[in-house]
Amino acid sequence: MIRQCNETDFEAIYAIINDAAEAYSGVIPEDRWKEPYMSREELQHEIDAGVVFWGYEEDEEMVGVTGVQDVQDVTLIRHAYVRRAWQKKGIGGKLLSELRKKTFRPILIGTWADALWATRFYEKHGFKLVSTEEKNRLLKKYWSIPERQTETSVVLVEQKCVTASINK
Ligand SMILES: CC(C)(COP(=O)(O)OP(=O)(O)OC[C@H]1O[C@@H](n2cnc3c(N)ncnc32)[C@H](O)[C@@H]1OP(=O)(O)O)[C@@H](O)C(=O)NCCC(=O)NCCS
Repeated sequence: MIRQCNETDFEAIYAIINDAAEAYSGVIPEDRWKEPYMSREELQHEIDAGVVFWGYEEDEEMVGVTGVQDVQDVTLIRHAYVRRAWQKKGIGGKLLSELRKKTFRPILIGTWADALWATRFYEKHGFKLVSTEEKNRLLKKYWSIPERQTETSVVLVEQKCVTASINK
């Protein structure tokens, strides 16, 4: 079952993110990795900034989450994580498909350049990597992230949504 998370889900979201983010250890640049990968303060900061989390439950246990954030004229997919024990069973895909139905805005996704599995996952769902120049422009326009994270990230957009609004 997929449902919108509420404040009682905070600890579950925190646990899922930090379990799944183990995949980044030894893969993303060392200076970007820390443990826990996302602190409770950082998670709260994201929620306060407007990231709305949706969760996937299996037998009443939340095992995957994906966040969405409306920024200006687009929707960003933020923080897509499925517990390691539950990965590659279609859960991330179901969350992504469900959230795509909920917005008419162009969807943009940012992820670590080194997380090749994540890029593959999004490409399978019809998203397309943009050029480095375009990535820098979109990250600057729609995200609030440090310069170093811009250098080490990629951006994917829906193939059908290479629209005038994000081309300016
Ligand atoms: C990326 C993620 C959210 C996808 O969720 P999921 O439930 O595992 O994905 P699905 O089962 O719907 O789709 C599986 C596809 O995702 C990719 N994938 C996911 N995990 C993978 C892994 N560990 N190794 C290789 N490919 C992987 C593959 O393309 C896979 O397709 P395949 O089974 O045909 O090879 C999840 O794997 C995860 O939490 N990964 C770690 C954190 C992360 O990278 N998050 C994305 C940041 S934006």
